[in-house]
Amino acid sequence: MEQKTISRREFLKEMGLVAGVSLLASSPWFSAFAQEQETQKEKARLAVIGTGSRGCFHLNMFVRDPKCEVVAICDDYRPSIDAALKITPHANVYTVYRKLLEDPNVDGVLIATPLHLHREMVEASFQAGKHVFCEKSLSKTLDDALAIYKAYQNTDKVLFVGQQRLFDPRYIKAIEMIEQGVIGPIQGIKTFWYRNNDWRRPVPSPELERKINWRLYREFSLGMMTELACHQVQLGSWALKELPNRMMGSGSLTWWKDGREVYDNVSILYLYDSGVRMSFDSIISNKFYGCEEQIMGHEGTIEPEKGKFFYETIPPAAGILQLVNEAEKGIFESIPFAGPSWVPETANKNKGEFLIGEKPKEDGSRLTDRAFVEAVITGKRVEKLVEEGYYATTLSILGDQAMQEGRIIDYPDEYKIDYLNHKAPSALAPAAPENV
Ligand SMILES: NC(=O)c1ccc[n+]([C@@H]2O[C@H](COP(=O)([O-])OP(=O)(O)OC[C@H]3O[C@@H](n4cnc5c(N)ncnc54)[C@H](O)[C@@H]3O)[C@@H](O)[C@H]2O)c1
Repeated sequence: MEQKTISRREFLKEMGLVAGVSLLASSPWFSAFAQEQETQKEKARLAVIGTGSRGCFHLNMFVRDPKCEVVAICDDYRPSIDAALKITPHANVYTVYRKLLEDPNVDGVLIATPLHLHREMVEASFQAGKHVFCEKSLSKTLDDALAIYKAYQNTDKVLFVGQQRLFDPRYIKAIEMIEQGVIGPIQGIKTFWYRNNDWRRPVPSPELERKINWRLYREFSLGMMTELACHQVQLGSWALKELPNRMMGSGSLTWWKDGREVYDNVSILYLYDSGVRMSFDSIISNKFYGCEEQIMGHEGTIEPEKGKFFYETIPPAAGILQLVNEAEKGIFESIPFAGPSWVPETANKNKGEFLIGEKPKEDGSRLTDRAFVEAVITGKRVEKLVEEGYYATTLSILGDQAMQEGRIIDYPDEYKIDYLNHKAPSALAPAAPENV
């Protein structure tokens, strides 16, 4: 069970970075690690609300972190409680989350319940004086996302959002390289997530269908947008330092017609004022291309999921050289298609180079949890983390709205928050006097 915590210094070493200055510029949330020296002896006393699949994943991280003590868990479904008790047998058990929030031994809570419950749980947790980690997406509606952001602005407590790419060494390195101009100005971002499964959980009795398969019903979730897209579209604002002002898309149910209410096949385009576009595509009845974000600059491409980057110009492969050579010598006439200058334009076979020197061992989840533990101990909020999560959520919701309404959606001004130099949202400003 014993596991050494990873310090910021070790993390930088792992990434092959000598100094953390540029890291803090591109990923300021890493400041959470900077306080480690001060907090050697203290522990964060945490609770997990919602001990289903993701809640238990976090519990497994927390019980292995020597600077964390899991003091309580809460779920309203017995099998989830039993699963959590196997990981943390001595935690206090609650079935009503508001009771757990009255527990003075709890410093911070991690909320891993279905999406539609996040807002009330985050608000109540802040009211109870707890630090909060809310799993992604933050919410199912724009109003709920803004309410969570307001609640965060009205407290001095820490808020983390489960956007683990922000703590993933591959992604951090990718953003640093983009900021250093290694791939030139970004021309487009393609994101996709392809799977081939029905996305269903087994249900022991029919009345539990909606409780267990909540992500398939619009009352609780926006399906692939809030569950998958929010991880990937978050990359757009992080990489481009810009917010897309318009979105358009199309969604359909093409394969899993089993009573679910969410799409199984979606395509969205996010349009930036600069002319750059980011796409999100997801199909869950073909997994050939898997999951990736392709960040395309004029001089190179980064694929952070693979952990690789590719320079745009490399010497052509020998076979292609020969083909071009033959074409130039005019002996190409016998080939009956596409004219004398034809060369294949299928994907580049360039194998690329690793972003951090080796294949990825894990995503950023463990480091996110580590940083949360540190932040709870120090009580120090980390810059821009919540804003990244907020935009990931709102862009997912707006993408869904574009598909539902079949029209181009403008990002509404009243949901823009003060990040990336956008003006403060009118919803957060003091109310204007009426009838003036
Ligand atoms: N960051 C990631 O990569 C990642 C991965 C998976 C899931 N998630 C997020 O984690 C959250 C949970 O997803 P999951 O897959 O674990 O779902 P899940 O259905 O497996 O677990 C949810 C748990 O919440 C419990 N619950 C429901 N209502 C409750 C209430 N009122 N009080 C207490 N407990 C309640 C359920 O009984 C269940 O045990 C979602 O927001 C999801 O998007 C994030």
